Amino acid sequence: MRNKTMRVNINSKKYSDTQYPVVGAATKSLGWSTTLAHDWDILWRDGSVSLSTLARMKTTQKINHFPGMYEISRKNCLAKNLNRFRETFPEDYDFYPETWILPQDIEGFKSVLNNKNTLIIKPDASSQGKGIFLVNKIEEVKDLKNVIGQKYINNPLLIDGLKFDLRIYVLVAGCDPLRVYIHEEGLARFATEPYSPPDMNNLNNRFMHLTNYAVNKHNEKFIQNQGDNEQSHKRSFSSILKKLEKEGRDSANLWDDICDIIIKTLLTAQPFLATSYKSAQSNDYYNGMCFEVLGFDILIDSDLRPWLLEVNFTPSFTTDSPLDLNIKKQVITDTLRLVSLPDRSKQVFEKIKTQYIQKRTLGKKTAHENIELRGFAQEIRDAYETQYCGGFIKIYPGSDYFEYTKILKHSQILWAGGFSDFLYLPRIKKPSFSESKDRNHSANKIRGKSPNTPMKTQRSGISPKRIVKVKTKLSFSSVDFSCSHSRSKSYLIGSDSSILN
Ligand SMILES: Nc1ncnc2c1ncn2[C@@H]1O[C@H](COP(=O)(O)OP(=O)(O)O)[C@@H](O)[C@H]1O
Ligand SMILES: [Mg+2]
Repeated sequence: MRNKTMRVNINSKKYSDTQYPVVGAATKSLGWSTTLAHDWDILWRDGSVSLSTLARMKTTQKINHFPGMYEISRKNCLAKNLNRFRETFPEDYDFYPETWILPQDIEGFKSVLNNKNTLIIKPDASSQGKGIFLVNKIEEVKDLKNVIGQKYINNPLLIDGLKFDLRIYVLVAGCDPLRVYIHEEGLARFATEPYSPPDMNNLNNRFMHLTNYAVNKHNEKFIQNQGDNEQSHKRSFSSILKKLEKEGRDSANLWDDICDIIIKTLLTAQPFLATSYKSAQSNDYYNGMCFEVLGFDILIDSDLRPWLLEVNFTPSFTTDSPLDLNIKKQVITDTLRLVSLPDRSKQVFEKIKTQYIQKRTLGKKTAHENIELRGFAQEIRDAYETQYCGGFIKIYPGSDYFEYTKILKHSQILWAGGFSDFLYLPRIKKPSFSESKDRNHSANKIRGKSPNTPMKTQRSGISPKRIVKVKTKLSFSSVDFSCSHSRSKSYLIGSDSSILN
């Protein structure tokens, strides 16, 4: 990244890449500038990103979406992917309510409806509760197209008699290999009418069954959060965890299960993301030109079991309340900082690369040069991100990486992709149970407890058959990042009409 002194606001009507002023506020809080000029470092846009957009970017630039993320953010694609993984790993993928893609899965859908179940119907590609309704009789269902039907979870955990769901912010910082962070703070969105299990009298009551802010803000009972977390219909995720803990419930286990859901969901699409990315940018050693903040919608049931409802690729960054502003600004600020590896770190890598090239001109080309260089670049990122993760906690790859290799392998076979994720993860050793600390640590961080507090037992994993071992002579622990962003840099967040499509 270069030094610049820029410029113009991102909320230009002309380009309007993002409708959310909080993105500009977060940028400025880092001492960076916003711009509409073509020489931006980071482009933040609300819409998705195509392969041709990514292909036209310089390797020094970054954009806030991955081409292909629709594989988990469109409701029908998510259902397709999670359903097919559930066929092979029924116990691992039991966190997603049974779902039918309509019209093609109509037979299964009808048979479930005939058995007196309540289903929820959602448009494939919509949001904010639009077009959603509940059904429990086959006669009520006609002509269903471009929707999914899903088993309605009718025993949600209630707080003050109200249903709520969680919006968890997840940062995908790289796709090849996958790098995933979860933010320690998120939101709990409450329904505004007391909950009763669905019946003929309340089936159409959207203020009871849907927890979307966009729906409930229209109820006169809606209380905006003005800093008084206890009363309002939007609260912080951490306040919910604390409340559960006070009641003696196992919030650490809940947190661990949520992390597991996030990883398993992303793994269903990882090979597709990686292949798409590589087809547009094959020479990005850092695996860092795209990043994405995803909003995972999670419902907790009365047994404290989390269910995945959907994944949003453009989670709302509206800031109608002080709570929204605090949390969303923090998430975006932490994201921008985490993805912006400073020049100083890059120079370390450039030196290593030059050494490789010099060796090569002397005829000593190493067999795994590309893999080794990517491994180095990754270590540099790891060292930086460990220090500058803010409220983000790395959940993948973690010390429990090997628990997921069977899923990753299966995913790569399903997508007929390469095995690069294994190739670029040479430095993770299979941990013994006593060493499995990362997620343990993250759960405790969120609970404000010591990292040594034990969590639930880890499941045993399967070792990958093929791991390329790369030896490194450099120790990156010696790289000092302490003044990485202290120079007055201008990371430019803006629009570039030349690559918009
Ligand atoms: N399977 C389900 N069981 C119970 N409630 C659900 C289910 N699916 C969705 N909901 C409720 O409906 C709301 C909207 O559903 P969601 O899948 O998040 O779609 P949208 O994109 O419209 O937000 C959720 O926030 C939740 O309150
Ligand atoms: Mg939603």
